[in-house]
Amino acid sequence: MCSSSFQMMGPVWLWLWLLVAEVLLPVHCQPFSAHGDKSLGASQPASHQSLEPAPAYHKVTPTITNFALRLYKQLAEEVAGNILFSPVSLSSSLALLSLGAHADTQTQILESLGFNLTETPAADVHRGFQSLLHTLDLPSPKLELKLGHFLFLDRQLKPQQRFLDSAKELYGALAFSANFTEAAATGQQINDLVRKQTYGQVVGCLPEFSHDTLMVLLNYIFFKAKCKHPFDRYQT
Ligand SMILES: *[C@@H]1O[C@H](CO)[C@@H](O)[C@H](O)[C@H]1NC(C)=O
Ligand SMILES: *[C@@H]1O[C@H](CO)[C@@H](O)[C@H](O)[C@H]1NC(C)=O
Repeated sequence: MCSSSFQMMGPVWLWLWLLVAEVLLPVHCQPFSAHGDKSLGASQPASHQSLEPAPAYHKVTPTITNFALRLYKQLAEEVAGNILFSPVSLSSSLALLSLGAHADTQTQILESLGFNLTETPAADVHRGFQSLLHTLDLPSPKLELKLGHFLFLDRQLKPQQRFLDSAKELYGALAFSANFTEAAATGQQINDLVRKQTYGQVVGCLPEFSHDTLMVLLNYIFFKAKCKHPFDRYQT
């Protein structure tokens, strides 16, 4: 099993990411309160608005931020130079994998990400990731952010339909079957599919795997922010 992630952005990525998570998310909540406003004055009780549940991602973002900081600290001690990683990609990939694992393995994976399953049961963690990924996927005029998961499963695997359904529903993960005995052809197949699914934004993805690979989980992320002060084309 292997997992790879594609990151196409500068070294300030981690901090940008945290910033995006903190700044962007509240903006996207607004349609919900707008909806609440509309029902004011109707037969709804006045307390309706204040009882509105917080979005499900609120249950996962603090843990993801802590995970990012822990990981960053560890990487900074071991790696020289710039560090490029995407905490949401990594944590959501692991949480997605845990869906297909036995209950105790699922617990271990989620706890290693820092979740306290007494406080936040596994189902809430998955719903939280679903809400976070959905929110990050909403179009924004300021930045373009695309994040996705692909699962490539060897033909000899018989994954449970329930796992495939949950992976798709909660993580938007698309599953494809592949024949890993034919390594080169499968690499090409994965490359073509990723290019097609990302409308050409992610290219040259030719993962390497060994003959006994049975599953590849691939995560891509594409991030493009508009500059606040765009460079003057004639001066650059
Ligand atoms: C998890 O949360 C429960 C309830 O808040 C708490 O009693 C427990 O100590 C926490 N576990 C860990 C490992 O932090
Ligand atoms: C996978 O590819 C190998 C080598 O070409 C072939 O022998 C095998 O039958 C294929 N397996 C499946 C399940 O298609």
